[in-house]
Amino acid sequence: MSELGHVHQFVPSERADARVLLMLHGTGGDEHDLIQLGQMLDPAAALLSPRGNVLEHGAPRFFRRLAEGVFDLEDLRRRTHELADFVEGAVKQYGLEGRRIVAVGFSNGANIAASLLLLRPRVLHGAVLFRAMVPFEPEKVPFLGGLPILLSEGRFDPLVGRKVAERLATIFKTAGAEVTLIEQESGHELTRADVDDATKWLASHPASRAAAEPQS
Ligand code: MLT
Repeated sequence: MSELGHVHQFVPSERADARVLLMLHGTGGDEHDLIQLGQMLDPAAALLSPRGNVLEHGAPRFFRRLAEGVFDLEDLRRRTHELADFVEGAVKQYGLEGRRIVAVGFSNGANIAASLLLLRPRVLHGAVLFRAMVPFEPEKVPFLGGLPILLSEGRFDPLVGRKVAERLATIFKTAGAEVTLIEQESGHELTRADVDDATKWLASHPASRAAAEPQS
C-alpha cells in the first residue's frame, strides 16, 4: 500500500493546468484497468488511478457489500473518507493544487464516486459515472452548486434500474449539480457509445481552472 492509502498509478499531463481524471475501477479491476479509458476520454488530462482497498474473494473493490447492490453502509462511509483523503494527499504529493479533479467511475467505482460527491463535496469538480446506483439515501444533501455530473446508465442493466438512476439524478439536482442523464442501449457493461458520449461531454466542460473562471 502506498503512503497515500491506496496502491495507485499516476500519469502526469503535458500541460501543468490540465484537469486530472480520477479513474475508479469496477469490482475485480485495479489501478491499471481504466488508464486506457482515461486516455481516450481526454488525452490531455493527468490520470490518478487508485486500486480499491477491499477484497471480495480476491476481487478488489472500493467498499464492502453484503450482497449484490446491498452495501455495507458503515464501510462505505469509512472508505469514502479514505478515498477523499487519498485524493487530497495525491494533490499535494504530485503538485496538483488548483487543478480540476473529475472522477470517472465504472460500477463499484461510480458508486464510491457518488458517495464522495455526497460526503466530501469539495474534493471533486465534476464526475462521469458509468452505471452508478444510489450509494445511500443522504439525510441532508450537500451543496454542489453547478458541479457538472454525467450519469451514463444502461437501459437493460439488471443491476441498476431506471428508477434508481432517476433517483440518483434527482439527489444530485437537489444538491444544485448540473446533471446530464443518458440512457445507453446496453446492460451493465461499458460500450463505445458510453465512451463517445463521455468524451463529448468532457470536451464541452472546462478542462482547466483558468477555463472555468471568467476572465477579467
Ligand atoms: C457495487 O457493489 O458497487 C455494485 O453492485 C456494482 C458492482 O460492483 O457490481
